[in-house]
Amino acid sequence: MGCALIGCGKALPALEVQNDELKALVDTNNEWIVTRTGIESRHIALEETNLDLAERAAREALGWDEGGWAARRVEPEEIDLVIFCTITADHLVPSAASELRMRLDLPNAIAFDLNAACTGFVYGVTVAESLMAASAAGVPGAAGRNKVRRALIVGSERLSRITDWAERSTCVLFGDGAGAGVLEWNEGRAGVLGTHLVNEDDPTGALLCPLEFDMPVPFAASGVDAGADAEAVLRERAGNPKQAITMNGQAVFKFAARAMSDAVTAVLDNAGLTLDDVACIVPHQANERIVRFAAKKLDCSMEKFHLCIAHAGNTSAASVPMGLADAYEAGRIKPGDKVVLVGFGGGFTSGALVYEA
Ligand code: COA
Repeated sequence: MGCALIGCGKALPALEVQNDELKALVDTNNEWIVTRTGIESRHIALEETNLDLAERAAREALGWDEGGWAARRVEPEEIDLVIFCTITADHLVPSAASELRMRLDLPNAIAFDLNAACTGFVYGVTVAESLMAASAAGVPGAAGRNKVRRALIVGSERLSRITDWAERSTCVLFGDGAGAGVLEWNEGRAGVLGTHLVNEDDPTGALLCPLEFDMPVPFAASGVDAGADAEAVLRERAGNPKQAITMNGQAVFKFAARAMSDAVTAVLDNAGLTLDDVACIVPHQANERIVRFAAKKLDCSMEKFHLCIAHAGNTSAASVPMGLADAYEAGRIKPGDKVVLVGFGGGFTSGALVYEA
């Protein structure tokens, strides 16, 4: 028995921006971007909100719309849990998960957001799997407790909202998109075989998007400060570049390549498996070169990795579930295959899981 993946889907915004088009914004060129990252184009949400993208990916994963892969159609009342993995929710409150629950009309689901940066989906599936295993095990005297049998896990981002479009070392890397997976506790299936989550320090702030909640407030000890110019404060904040992603690319690169190979090794050890048992690895797609470095460290052929970074760029929490849906659409994953999902990102977070398809 175990937590099985029974559907996955993906969504990209309509607008696709080629590398050379970015020359209008910064001093860059297609050759530099392709050779350093493997990225040829990315999609940018103009009309689409983060929620719109998530909804499209979720509908495919639930078997409601064409695309992605779904073992069967899952009815709205069957979903007990929604975890929305993102760093770019449309609002702080309500949570993106609550909004998605309402948009999809999932009457029985509890819902919350999860921020583990680009490792979000791996964290999300691990949390869902733990809740399902606890529900299945049962807790004496816990009648009435939430039982989680099926979960919708979404990774969805509108990174274009937090990208500094005047900074060439970061703006060429990121894109918008969404991916989703549906999980079901199944007495007859192995499903998730092992998980491994890590958090380590990022002492130099190599990957930051501060969004500091330190805006001066128009209040004094005596109450409202009538002399404060609240509108000027808001105007100043609207153009605050500190709200954009900043990154020490080389430090992140080194962390990423090591964390990725470590996580794959650890999760396979936990599950008593080796790389030879694995049919496909779907990694977080930040940079094709990071995957090549990790593959070399693992002594693993690049053929085993499923990549779709070329036309999506780095979409943070959306990247792993989008790659997963892409792998199913490409026919790379067959029933019984062992599949590894691995992520790394801001925090620093990293992690991997292995499941039987
Ligand atoms: N176009 C053209 N030139 C660029 C450029 C761009 N978009 N961005 C940077 N450059 C220049 C730099 O200014 C530098 O020029 P200089 O030598 O004259 O100073 C040169 O290219 C090399 O820059 P460097 O930062 O050393 O390149 P790099 O090989 O480390 O590649 C990254 C940069 C960002 C692609 C790479 O470090 C990386 O992928 N890091 C990890 C990023 C990541 O994945 N983040 C998310 C993790 S979840």
